[in-house]
Amino acid sequence: MVRHFLRDDDLTPLEQRQVLDLAKAMKAAPLAHRALEGKSVAAIFEKNSTRTRLSFDVGIHQLGGHPVVVDGRTMQLGREETIEDTSRVLSRYVDAVVWRTYAQKRMEAMASASSVPVVNALTDEFHPCQVLADLQTVEERLGRLAGVTLTYLGDGANNMAHSLLLGGATAGLHVRVAAPEGFQPHERYLADAAVRAKETGGSVEVITDPVTAVTGADVLVTDAWTSMGQENDGRDRVGAFRRFQVNADLLAHAADGAVVLHCLPAHRGWEITDEVLDGPASAVFDEAENRLHAQKALLAWLVSQP
Ligand code: CP
Ligand code: NVA
Repeated sequence: MVRHFLRDDDLTPLEQRQVLDLAKAMKAAPLAHRALEGKSVAAIFEKNSTRTRLSFDVGIHQLGGHPVVVDGRTMQLGREETIEDTSRVLSRYVDAVVWRTYAQKRMEAMASASSVPVVNALTDEFHPCQVLADLQTVEERLGRLAGVTLTYLGDGANNMAHSLLLGGATAGLHVRVAAPEGFQPHERYLADAAVRAKETGGSVEVITDPVTAVTGADVLVTDAWTSMGQENDGRDRVGAFRRFQVNADLLAHAADGAVVLHCLPAHRGWEITDEVLDGPASAVFDEAENRLHAQKALLAWLVSQP
């Protein structure tokens, strides 16, 4: 059966380990791996993207493949063609499909009709490629993953929160989500992450007080308070999230040597201050670079599955 990567827990803990090890090897020798020689990969974007679009394009090229990067808003998909028919056609041309879209149900529909691997390049619910890069970055900085305490602050109901819960639990992390009432993780995803954490020795927790949530944490992560597609939902996000800003005062409560991550783009002065983003704890640009290595490893792993 063809393997897809639609959400973080589509990889078992062992498989996630394999992908992260491969990512490390690819980072050490960027042009030494040719897993996509003679293959083409479609990378389709229905939402804006800088990092994901560029890193998939370059990464597919480095693996010897041909990247077909498409603005999804110009496809027939945006008119009346169904996702499933689009998927059947793509399977006749390319060896994998990378897609950034809105609802996770759309991603599942794409995968359901695909005979080639489908990779989630961000949906409203998950951003699993980002979390592979985040895990690679944490391991580089701290030398380990299992047992690390990671606190995510901000919109606990967004794609990054859900993916950090599932992907972090898969890696054996203790994942804390610090979010106000009304912006907490989807119960079902939290429960799925708890099941995975039980297997790996990790844990998951939702905390409403930001200081409690960051106390002793090894990693702090934040993200935009307003995700793509939420711009006009009329919710008071600044009022809800102000206390969750990652600033020097909050960082002072974290463990010594704590690492700060942000998937970017950052809204400086809102979810994170310049002082922290540009300071010694920040690993955000290594994190952005690791998108390239982690996604190359993921694609190479997916196309090598029997
Ligand atoms: N972090 C991330 O996915 O960035 P882009 O939206 O620029 O791809
Ligand atoms: N949560 C953000 C992540 C952007 C990479 C969004 O969905 O807009």
